[in-house]
Amino acid sequence: MQIQLAQRMEAMKASEIREILKLTRKPSVISFAGGLPAPETFPVAEMQAVAGTMLASRGCEVMQYSTTEGEADLREWIAGRMNGRLGTSVEASEILVTSGSQQGLDLTGKVLLDEGDEVLCESPTYLGAIQAFTAYRPRFVEVPTDDDGMLPEELAKRLAGCRRPKIIYVVPDFQNPSGRSWSLERRRQVRDVASRFPVVIVEDNPYGELRFEGVARPPLKAMDRHGQVVMLGTFSKILCPGLRLGWIAAPVELLEKYVLVKQGADLHTSTLCQRLAADYVRGYDLDAAIGRIRELYRRRRDVMVAALERELPAGIRFTRPSGGLFLWVELPQHLSGRDLLVRCLEHDVAFVPGGSFFPNGGHENTLRLNFSAMPEPRIEEGVRRLARAIREMLADTTVPASA
Ligand SMILES: Cc1ncc(COP(=O)(O)O)c(C=O)c1O
Repeated sequence: MQIQLAQRMEAMKASEIREILKLTRKPSVISFAGGLPAPETFPVAEMQAVAGTMLASRGCEVMQYSTTEGEADLREWIAGRMNGRLGTSVEASEILVTSGSQQGLDLTGKVLLDEGDEVLCESPTYLGAIQAFTAYRPRFVEVPTDDDGMLPEELAKRLAGCRRPKIIYVVPDFQNPSGRSWSLERRRQVRDVASRFPVVIVEDNPYGELRFEGVARPPLKAMDRHGQVVMLGTFSKILCPGLRLGWIAAPVELLEKYVLVKQGADLHTSTLCQRLAADYVRGYDLDAAIGRIRELYRRRRDVMVAALERELPAGIRFTRPSGGLFLWVELPQHLSGRDLLVRCLEHDVAFVPGGSFFPNGGHENTLRLNFSAMPEPRIEEGVRRLARAIREMLADTTVPASA
């Protein structure tokens, strides 16, 4: 029988890169490909204690269905933390607990996008957002970025040329994939440009708390004067991703729409996981735990940056992020990240080719490296292998006259 799939499935293709990366599961491979937090930072013993007490005292309650919006005390805690740390002024009633911030992206598409609507995003942007929004069949409009973030004049130009711009999707802190963070000035400028159009700014902020140095900049959400910013947050990078806990902070009228679509998606986020997180943050020092994560990732960033500086052939540029999990490499124009990955697998090292992070294609000469998940000696060895593969490719390829 020929099963007739929904038309949206035409745009949803299994990524060829994902298939290649399956080869990286061998223990001999040093993988800079994933976006995994370091498992040694997970609070296993603490969670065991929290779960034991919780199940003994309220086992039936925490195994029951719950409200779509989320556990009241967890919503309070999230709003309080956002306001205290980020300078926002959100109420608990403006928080919806989600199954990871990835669900926040999918629900955003469901609430806001009709086929052909425009999603403006940084170039490059987060692959998971491209995947989530693609199901709603928008047109992606990439906005050029530099080291300070999205270029406001380019955003204005593109917005003016859009027919139905709905979403500006941004990751201003330690972006996945580039590791870049926006300057304060850029944040203000982008907010000002956006305020002239009927669009929602979706500010995705999984990495803001993972700053290794320098001064934190306020999120767009804290600068929002028109109720235009929806912020996505997550416990994945500050606690552990397996809980699948994130949140949406949005003005109440919009949040009500999110609640409606979440009901249809999964009724509510796991009661058990929400209770685990709520009891954990009440009983333990989350800030101290985040401090340890930052310290570990800063060391790993330092080791990777030093190894890249030492090993890479001249003329290859890469970012030096002040936080987060990733850095971004630009190869000479004529080299392809995809070809390099194939070659790197022969050397037992892997990364994600950067072309995947551009919804409209191109930029094949780029790559994303993760520095959070590998012990330092493996990072050094992995960079040595990567550099060897690049040198081989440079030796094999002749530069086209136009390059
Ligand atoms: C920018 C960005 N947004 C969202 C997510 C999804 O995170 P989660 O669903 O675990 O909260 C990720 C994960 O890597 C990410 O990098």
